[in-house]
Amino acid sequence: MLPIHFAPLQGHTDDAYRRIHHRLVGGVEHYYTPFIRMEGGGLRSKEVRDIRPEYNEGVPVVPQIIMKSLKEFEYLTSEVAQRGYTRIDLNMGCPFPMQAKHGRGAGLLAQTDIIRSIAQAIEERPQIQFSIKMRLGWEDKDEWRPVLEVLNALPLTHITLHPRIGTQQYKGEVDMESFRAFYEACRHPLVYNGDIHTLADIRSLEEAYPRLAGVMIGRGLLARPSLAIEYATGQEWSPEKRRKLMTDLHQALMEHWQPLMNSDAQLLNKLRTFWEYAEEEIGRKLYKKLMKSGSLKNYLSAIREITHNS
Ligand SMILES: Cc1cc2nc3c(=O)[nH]c(=O)nc-3n(C[C@H](O)[C@H](O)[C@H](O)COP(=O)(O)O)c2cc1C
Repeated sequence: MLPIHFAPLQGHTDDAYRRIHHRLVGGVEHYYTPFIRMEGGGLRSKEVRDIRPEYNEGVPVVPQIIMKSLKEFEYLTSEVAQRGYTRIDLNMGCPFPMQAKHGRGAGLLAQTDIIRSIAQAIEERPQIQFSIKMRLGWEDKDEWRPVLEVLNALPLTHITLHPRIGTQQYKGEVDMESFRAFYEACRHPLVYNGDIHTLADIRSLEEAYPRLAGVMIGRGLLARPSLAIEYATGQEWSPEKRRKLMTDLHQALMEHWQPLMNSDAQLLNKLRTFWEYAEEEIGRKLYKKLMKSGSLKNYLSAIREITHNS
């Protein structure tokens, strides 16, 4: 049975979502926070909130940081460790041009010298367990080769590989041939990430890669939040049971967000993101209704249809 990791998804898997998912369904080994970065010499308040220990109590959370230099690595690691965390995930995969063009995320992969300096700093911090989440490269599918040589020599809990290059963003096919090559060369436990949507997807990876240390799922878990528990228990849920869970999660999120929002319109905007990847799960008609509802009242009446129609 492979451990399932909940991928970090900026704008989706914030502290409230992680807490509520863990409480209502779970089945997840670790939840990763969306990346934390330096801005204006410090942390942004939203990110400080996201890793506050009291908002993450009892939830197996791993903070993720993104950096372009040793200096940023040192600052962010120290901020995270000060809050009591002993595990940190390093982002070397983000394809957003705003980050990558500054040498963060997938933009760091070609900077082997900087990676080497960060590697040394990792070795100097044995009290923290580090993992790395990366892509094959920024614009070349072989960029990972010299990087892995450096990473192989480090103490890491695991590497998570999303087998696309940065310039692809999330488009096109995942490159399983390159994943295989990475799998053969990697000395650390390796976690696969990318385009997993069903139990069959997980099982076929398990079969094809017997040494795989886990899978990380992002959009597939947002669309079907029970996917991890279904896999862990070996019991596939009916579409009705899955939709009921989604409306329960949504209800709990609404109860969390309602008192914090200034208007119905703001609340509606926030809540709608919950369904962004769920078109297949709830059907095109309802999906469009939710996305196009102009008022909270219409939106909530569409939500009621989700369980009534099932
Ligand atoms: C909206 C969005 C936000 C994301 N934010 C992050 C992030 O903060 N850190 C990170 O490492 N990856 C981030 N990712 C990438 C996901 O963690 C994951 O690698 C990607 O979605 C592929 O996995 P999936 O096909 O299971 O969704 C993001 C992806 C999306 C679509």
